[in-house]
Amino acid sequence: MRKPQPSDKFSFGLWTVGWTAGDPFGEPTRPALDPWAYAEKLAELGAWGFTFHDNDVWAFDASDAERAARVEKLAEAAKAHDLTIEMVTTNTFSHPIFKDGGLTNNDRNIRRFGLKKILRNVDLAAELGATTFVMWGGREGSEYDSSKDLNAAFDRYKEGLDTVAGYIKEKGYNLRIGLEPKPNEPRGDIFLPTVGHALALIAELENGDVVGLNPETGHEQMAGLNYTHALAQGLNAGKLFHIDLNGQSGIKYDQDKVFGHGDLISAFFTVDLLVNGFPNGGPKYEGPIHFDYKPARTDGMDSVWETAAANMEMYLMLAEKAKAFREDPRTQELMRQSGVFELAEPTLAAGESYDDFMNANEDVDVDALAARDYHFVELHQQAMRHLIG
Ligand code: GCO
Ligand code: MN
Ligand code: MN
Ligand code: MN
Repeated sequence: MRKPQPSDKFSFGLWTVGWTAGDPFGEPTRPALDPWAYAEKLAELGAWGFTFHDNDVWAFDASDAERAARVEKLAEAAKAHDLTIEMVTTNTFSHPIFKDGGLTNNDRNIRRFGLKKILRNVDLAAELGATTFVMWGGREGSEYDSSKDLNAAFDRYKEGLDTVAGYIKEKGYNLRIGLEPKPNEPRGDIFLPTVGHALALIAELENGDVVGLNPETGHEQMAGLNYTHALAQGLNAGKLFHIDLNGQSGIKYDQDKVFGHGDLISAFFTVDLLVNGFPNGGPKYEGPIHFDYKPARTDGMDSVWETAAANMEMYLMLAEKAKAFREDPRTQELMRQSGVFELAEPTLAAGESYDDFMNANEDVDVDALAARDYHFVELHQQAMRHLIG
């Protein structure tokens, strides 16, 4: 497999390779490096960019001078290694002040504090040239239904998002917000558990034009849902602003495995969509290929770089196979037989009135249509030939 190159637009969160592997049951198993050290290594591996939370770079209680010095060092490292800082995000989940959330906390003082922390980071994102500002509401939610006026919680969530989106517009920043849905963990139930919930809320925002999605593979799969469908609906709605790729094996805790190391078949079709687009054309994702994974706790520092490389290698291997799958004339024939291209034709004729439609003299042979053989399984088997044949 060829080496990843900047034109592949691979990008990593600093918190991914930087995870020191502390979990609720055990202590960290790896040392923490300086944020700029990760950037350097990622560049060596062929990454194009990186992303970070404010507190991946400076401590929650850092002074302004300390913050500025650390940001400068990071920006210098990005420049020195030709890395793009494509996305910035805010940590409103680690510090105990956020234990009941930032934007939907019952405590108004904390909501105001959280919102300021976010807006301050929006300024930094714009200053560093990022184009996406991710908002993952990890602590926005509850364990106990009695703990929240849920209607008020959704009102506050919308107020918070509209405030951040309105700020971006007022400042004229070239930034768009990517909401990241997740069903649970760290909260028992997180608000906006799936892509569908997020899309519905975005449609109700006043400044929703600059608010879209950052769907994560494992998060949809934790809810038993189909990640590729989530990406597709996001694209269809013009809202797929960013992606978090990783691996997940079924409905469990957030595993954050290497991309493709969970549900491989699903990963194949995700890559098929990302590199080939929809069979009948339409909106295509052109953004960064961003990985949000965690190197396993069992693995040491050398493995951190092996696992980072593995994400990119998995993507490139799947991209090659997905391209060959689509280009294969046999695939095209099977897609035709399956009716994949027929679905692009509108159901009503152009300008067809209700009367014309209801009175159209169409000889419908119900039995023949009911007996249609779609050969969907053979089409899937054709994909498997390319994936593992
Ligand atoms: C998680 C999330 C986070 C977010 C990150 C960016 O499950 O922990 O995926 O990793 O992506 O906080 O906002
Ligand atoms: Mn995850
Ligand atoms: Mn994520
Ligand atoms: Mn994650």
